[in-house]
Amino acid sequence: MSYNEIPLGKAHRLINTGATVLVTSRSGNKNNVMVAAWQMPISFKPPLIAVGIGKARYTHKLIEKSGEFVVNVPPMKMLSAVWYCGTHSGKNLDKFSLCELNKIKAKKVKAPAIEGCIGFIECRVYSSPSAGDHTIFVGEILSASAKEGLFDEVLDLKKAQPVHHLGDRFFCTTNAIKEVK
Ligand SMILES: Cc1cc2nc3c(=O)[nH]c(=O)nc-3n(C[C@H](O)[C@H](O)[C@H](O)COP(=O)(O)O)c2cc1C
Repeated sequence: MSYNEIPLGKAHRLINTGATVLVTSRSGNKNNVMVAAWQMPISFKPPLIAVGIGKARYTHKLIEKSGEFVVNVPPMKMLSAVWYCGTHSGKNLDKFSLCELNKIKAKKVKAPAIEGCIGFIECRVYSSPSAGDHTIFVGEILSASAKEGLFDEVLDLKKAQPVHHLGDRFFCTTNAIKEVK
């Protein structure tokens, strides 16, 4: 499975649909993965994205310690892994092996990316404002990659099939693309 690097200035297009993402983190020898529906692109210069991470999450601790994370965009066929990673903490579990998620070495950060995802965005923490019971981890994009054949200027939604969270146990995907003339 091969991934192509995409320009930093276009990396936000991997998550512009508001897709639910898998956030990977690493500190020491411990890798972790959790689901986040609350994400957004936030700046072109420098290229920044943001994820809202609950202060009680194990991921929160790992990102605080390492100052890095990766935002991976899963396809619909990974939905059962998405659900598991969003309903179990990795504090005492290895969600990668339990969900049979293969790690890919990231280019610029120590946290791993996830094989089979549509693409992934490698980030270094730029700022981390507190927002109620969550922290908004703003990440400076250091590198971004998309799976071969799924990204050409924008995502090929028909092939990519990103996951969108409606709430509770309900999800959808979208493949309707319109170009404004
Ligand atoms: C569909 C879905 C979306 C979620 N979105 C978020 C989110 O945006 N931010 C967050 O902090 N937790 C979110 N969660 C909850 C975490 O993924 C969950 O608490 C997870 O077990 C945390 O794992 P960790 O303790 O290993 O970091 C979501 C869960 C699901 C199922």
